Amino acid sequence: MKKFTSVAIDGPSGAGKSTVAKALAAQMHFLYLDTGAIYRTVGLAADRNGVAHKDEAGLRTLLPNIEVELKYTDQGQKMLLNGEDVSQKIRTPEISIAASDVSAVPYVREYLLDMQRDIARHNNVIMDGRDIGTVVLPDADVKIFLTASPDTRTKRRLKELQEKGIDTDFSTVYKEIQARDDQDLHRSTAPLRMAEDAVLLDTTEMSLEESIQEALKIIKMVQEGKQQ
Ligand code: DC
Repeated sequence: MKKFTSVAIDGPSGAGKSTVAKALAAQMHFLYLDTGAIYRTVGLAADRNGVAHKDEAGLRTLLPNIEVELKYTDQGQKMLLNGEDVSQKIRTPEISIAASDVSAVPYVREYLLDMQRDIARHNNVIMDGRDIGTVVLPDADVKIFLTASPDTRTKRRLKELQEKGIDTDFSTVYKEIQARDDQDLHRSTAPLRMAEDAVLLDTTEMSLEESIQEALKIIKMVQEGKQQ
C-alpha cells in the first residue's frame, strides 16, 4: 500500500497554525486539513438544535442524526452541515467557544477520529489542531508544536476577525483566547500538549513568512533525519 506523508501541527488558539499550515500545504502540494473546523461545525449544530455544549447525552443523540462533511474545492476546505455550506458561519467568536466546549466531550472526539484519520490514510496531508501529534496521528512523519505569546496571538486573531468585518477589541479577544487556552489545556480527554517527538516553533517574534520558512526547515530536517 502506498505510504502517504503526514505533517501534524498542533498548538494553542491564534498561534497562526492554519495560516502556516495552508501555506505549507500549497508549497508542498499536500492536502490541508483544518480539524478545528470540524469541531466548530459540531458546535454550530449543537447551537442550532438547542443541545448544551457539554451535554454528552444530548450530543450522543445529535451526532448520528446530522451530517458533518468535509469538501475540497478550488477555494480549499469547506464544511458542510446537513448539506449546507457553513464554512463562514463557523468563524464567529461564539462558535469558537462552542467548538472548544463540545471538543472537551470524549464522545465527540471519539466520533470524529475516523474522519480525520481516513484523510491521512489516503492523502499526503498537513493537519492542524490540538491533538494531532498526540492522538489523531501519533505516527505522523513530522510533528510541529506552533505557539506564540498570548499577546501576539491576540493581535493576530484580532486582525483576522477585523478583516472579516467582525467588530471586537483587544481585551475581548484576549479573554476569549485565555478561556479557550484554559479549557483546551485542562480538559481530561486529549488536552492540548506537545508530543514528545514534536519540534517546538515559537513564532512570537516572527513574521508570517519567517514562520512558514522555519516550518519548512523543520519538515526538511525531520525528513532528512529519518532517511539516515
Ligand atoms: O483551531 P480552532 O480555533 O478552529 O479550534 C476550535 C476549537 O476546537 C478549539 O478551541 C479546540 C477544539 N479543537 C480540538 O479540541 N482538537 C482539534 N484537533 C482541533 C480543535
